[in-house]
Amino acid sequence: MKKVLVTGGAGFIGGNFVRYMADKYSDYQIYNLDLLTYAGDLTKHRDIENKANYHFIKADIANRDEIKPLFEKERFDYVIHFAAESHVDRSITDPEIFIRTNVLGTQVLLDAAREFAVTKFVHVSTDEVYGELDFDPNTFFTEDTPLQPNSPYSASKASSDFLVRSYYETYGLPMNITRCSNNYGPYHFPEKLIPLTISRVLNDQKVPVYGDGKNIRDWLHVIDHCAAIDLVMHKAPSGEVYNIGGHNERTNLEVVKTIIHALGKSEDLIEFVEDRLGHDKRYAIDPTKLEQLGWKPTYTFETGIAQTIQWYLDNKEWWEQIISGEYQKYFEKQYAM
Ligand code: NAD
Ligand code: TYD
Repeated sequence: MKKVLVTGGAGFIGGNFVRYMADKYSDYQIYNLDLLTYAGDLTKHRDIENKANYHFIKADIANRDEIKPLFEKERFDYVIHFAAESHVDRSITDPEIFIRTNVLGTQVLLDAAREFAVTKFVHVSTDEVYGELDFDPNTFFTEDTPLQPNSPYSASKASSDFLVRSYYETYGLPMNITRCSNNYGPYHFPEKLIPLTISRVLNDQKVPVYGDGKNIRDWLHVIDHCAAIDLVMHKAPSGEVYNIGGHNERTNLEVVKTIIHALGKSEDLIEFVEDRLGHDKRYAIDPTKLEQLGWKPTYTFETGIAQTIQWYLDNKEWWEQIISGEYQKYFEKQYAM
């Protein structure tokens, strides 16, 4: 029986990963450790919370006094580290918490993983650590692209990547780093572009598009991301970095228009607003290394966005409780719309 610690398992990707693992591996014990910040909620796990192999622990990854005794008690085999502050816009207005959670929090976990000799530490990072690409469609991020983060968020993630690497090189901690492109799918918090657009279009509200809407992101369905991490944790040689992406590049305007058309609404809902500071032009992943390990995405952008829109239609109560709470104040302050 393996014990798997998933940090940030009450958030978007970690939450999907926890369900994926609890369903797939009944012989593993899955521990979801989360501080339940604004981005974490447990209602998403009502369907698995009574499973014998699922456990929730409320704790702060940056608090050594909470983390060390936990590792001492449970002796985890794997750590899959998702917990982070993850929203670029919030990092522009308030960078400090990003350093505490993403940098210090990762270091606290690394110390515990090292002291209690985990089998593997998988660090879930982002393609944003590579900085930005220009609009030449033949250029991609590979694992050898130099790290040139541009936002406080991506700088904090790059710092944590370097720490993970250093614990491998210095102490021999078994690890992998994964760098994924933009995810979308069920339980995506409605501050991010795709769920923000779906929820606002459904309520006939304006959708804020930054700048001219021509920035490009490479979209990956969250379930394809979960399968990639499953593969990396079990099959990847220690010390290796893997990029995760499925060649689904779209401009932001294309994404927003796709959603508007699928919901039968008017493009008049689009409102161009002031651009994000330091807005990265384009992200695009070369996933060859991960494909060679045996990964293949199951969704195209077309099938994935259709499934996601349907999920938001079927699960209104989940996102309505979020947008009616504290989040409303954030929206008003961020956009002044
Ligand atoms: P999210 O913001 O939805 O969830 C983050 C979770 O971490 C929340 O449940 C939150 O409560 C928890 N958390 C925050 N601070 C904590 C702390 N101090 N201690 C314990 N838990 C804490 O994020 P997400 O979109 O699911 O992203 C998960 C990971 O994947 C992040 O590391 C992010 O950098 C990375 N990533 C995300 C994307 C994306 O498109 N969302 C793409 C590439 C990489
Ligand atoms: P986001 O979902 O915040 O992810 P990231 O910044 O990590 O890529 O944003 C995706 C793209 O959508 C990014 O280019 C910024 C843009 N965007 C908007 O145009 N309007 C918005 O209201 C938001 C949140 C994002």
